[in-house]
Amino acid sequence: MTAHGTRPGDLGQESARQGSQAAHDAAYYGLGDALLVRGEGVRVWDESGREYLDCVSGTFNLVLGHNHPEVVAAVKRQADELVFASSSFQTAPTNRVLELLAELAPNGLDRVNLRSAGGSTANEGAIKMAQWHTGKRDVVVPFRGHLGQTIATASYNGTSRMREPFPYHLPGAVRVPDAYCHRCFYGKTPDSCGLWCVDRIEDFLRYASSGSVAAMVVEPISGVGGNIVPPPGYLARLREFCTERGIVLVFDENQTGLGRTGSVFAADHFGVTPDVITVSKGLTGSGLPLAAIITTEELVGMPRSMHGFTYGGHTLSAAAAVVTLEIVRRPEFLAHVREAGSVLLERLRALEHPALDEVRGVGLMLGVELAEPDGSRSPRLATALQERLAARGVVTRVSEHGEGNVIELRPPLVLSVEDAHLVADRFGEALDGL
Ligand SMILES: Cc1ncc(COP(=O)(O)O)c(C=O)c1O
Repeated sequence: MTAHGTRPGDLGQESARQGSQAAHDAAYYGLGDALLVRGEGVRVWDESGREYLDCVSGTFNLVLGHNHPEVVAAVKRQADELVFASSSFQTAPTNRVLELLAELAPNGLDRVNLRSAGGSTANEGAIKMAQWHTGKRDVVVPFRGHLGQTIATASYNGTSRMREPFPYHLPGAVRVPDAYCHRCFYGKTPDSCGLWCVDRIEDFLRYASSGSVAAMVVEPISGVGGNIVPPPGYLARLREFCTERGIVLVFDENQTGLGRTGSVFAADHFGVTPDVITVSKGLTGSGLPLAAIITTEELVGMPRSMHGFTYGGHTLSAAAAVVTLEIVRRPEFLAHVREAGSVLLERLRALEHPALDEVRGVGLMLGVELAEPDGSRSPRLATALQERLAARGVVTRVSEHGEGNVIELRPPLVLSVEDAHLVADRFGEALDGL
């Protein structure tokens, strides 16, 4: 105990408040304004008692919401027994996560690598596996795709924003127009385009790649790129395209996975099975770090030492993941996501404002695109709306890795129908006078 009667490491409310200016001074980056002290489900509270509706699930990761009691209890139990074991050992929770992921992933995806702790490194692992397996190099990524923030994943990302300040990038990215029908790169419409955006990838492979293509990495719904939902048939055609050319198709389900679309994986929602699925974010329900790369038997073979991180397969995170997977797989849980999602989607679609350009999404992965009166994208109005929502206690994000003109809504999947209405009401208030 210290002279002030607290144990070392204790952060009482008072000391947190007193420390905040020093923290601002010490932080390398700008700190947010609010100091959060508690969370439960969709809600978090700051030190002054102000309540926020967290419509982005932390960092899109808290599928079970803040501090889900079953997750917290499992983590506490595990912490009493064993906090960490390296992946050269088995533990009961990591074994169970392996079993559950193999069971819940689409048929044929039944081998699981748990040795990454986050989405960027899981995607890098998937790319390494594809390169190992095919002996080829390049990676195809749709425009606006977001694979992560490491130098390698930023080299592949479907936007230049994360590359521009840094001198070196990995070669070998082939970026292709995405299925953004609302603003189609080819100026076509989904009813008559014949999925041109898949067929034309052939030209990029022929003229813009190294000629040696290992993988295509695609988010089934482009998340931070602007909540872009592909048209019917897009992913199935992509599947055929990759199979015909021996390209490993990777679904980055870091945002779409674990119930977000109302199915365990978006692959199930769209009825398309890739060769690899990467997941992280939602895997532990209430926010512990863990990622998985789920592959087919055929892709097994890359030696274990080629991809593994200290905190991959973390024992505490695995205990949280077991509970999360058991909850997310329940049909009634997934049905609830679909119901709450459609209530929120329909309510948002019913709002009227000239700046509302398109409201789109699946399950509880929704996006609201804003435009200027001339129809051009409006990051300005999106940011203003986001601020007005924040003033009403609704936490959202703008599509910062896309064009910044889409408000992203990904509330925890435990959002009640009543709270879905509340979010829509506040959205309407925030739009008023925008
Ligand atoms: C689709 C997608 N992939 C990968 C990542 C990177 O995950 P992480 O931040 O855990 O490295 C993110 C993060 O936002 C993401 O949205």
